[in-house]
Amino acid sequence: MTSHYDPVEVTPLHADELARTVDDALAAVAAAKDLDDLKQVRLAHAGDRSPIALANREIGALPPAARAEAGKRIGAARKAINEALAARHDELERERDERVLVEERVDVTLPWDVRPRGARHPLTTLAERIGDAFVAMGYEIAEGPELEGEWFNFDALNIAPDHPARSEHDTFFVGSADSGRVLRTQTSPVQIRALLDRSLPVYVVSPGKVFRTDELDATHTPVFHQVEGLAVDEGLTMAHLKGTLDRFAEVMFGEGISTRFRPNYFPFTEPSAEMDLRCFVCRGASASPGAPPCRTCKSEGWIEWGGCGMVNPRVLIACGVDPSRYSGFAFGMGIERTLMFRHNVEDMRDMVEGDVRFTLPFGMEV
Ligand code: DAH
Repeated sequence: MTSHYDPVEVTPLHADELARTVDDALAAVAAAKDLDDLKQVRLAHAGDRSPIALANREIGALPPAARAEAGKRIGAARKAINEALAARHDELERERDERVLVEERVDVTLPWDVRPRGARHPLTTLAERIGDAFVAMGYEIAEGPELEGEWFNFDALNIAPDHPARSEHDTFFVGSADSGRVLRTQTSPVQIRALLDRSLPVYVVSPGKVFRTDELDATHTPVFHQVEGLAVDEGLTMAHLKGTLDRFAEVMFGEGISTRFRPNYFPFTEPSAEMDLRCFVCRGASASPGAPPCRTCKSEGWIEWGGCGMVNPRVLIACGVDPSRYSGFAFGMGIERTLMFRHNVEDMRDMVEGDVRFTLPFGMEV
């Protein structure tokens, strides 16, 4: 019957009820395990729809006389909740910072150079060893371009446009087939450049890349390496050629390696020969009748290493050298083949793929 309206009687503003709201809030704050948790707690207990906010809204409905008292209670409750939130926030933030410091600790004393060091490719180091072997015999290293003029790669080497050897070289032409420019199919054009550029006598070797339109397989690669040798002097004979290549073979494969010359044909040498090495595996035994076969030399007893011969006078003439006064010898070996023989590499692809597992056993020569 009474019109007296005590805010204490309005449930959300009841002192006990408010105390419970605060207790709930403080308990939730204390239970928050991390800052994300605490964010949810703040929304639930101090946000727009929290019990305390709802209680606050009730104030508007109170008679003016009761508002001050209710406002005070709410304010105190709010303050308690907000202070708890702020304190817990500081605490959790400190905990997080400490944890991050531990979890994300960086040990600056750990070794930093753990990335394995690379090594040069065995073909590169072998090419250098070959160079060294000849430098020790008084030769110089000569170089020529990989993009070569057709004249240097063929014509000057006595391989005329209609010469069958020209079409046997599976040539990469640069631009069109009649551009006159090719990727050199052999290192022999360096012979021409050496004779044109240098004064006589000439003793040069030239290791380098050559290109042929072959598919990559176990025994072919479109990019491979040769070493060219050229000596032009007065009085050079095939005996000098044989002696030089025998020394080269010894440096590559060890003292006592047997070699032989087998007649062959190259347009730029006359006479020409193929230099064979005694088979490393069967040492020639497989060639005897009834002997077990040898895969390495196909039971020939010998394996082919490279071509050589006495420089064809036509080549000397093309380079302005007088063949009545000078003679010379030349040779060309495959560096991949040499590496295969020296180190029992069976698949050419291993040499092109750049896998360090292939390179590492050759040593970390830099
Ligand atoms: N250029 C030859 C080739 O690619 C190899 C060669 C043979 C080079 C005989 C020579 C040589 O200098 O005299 O098959």
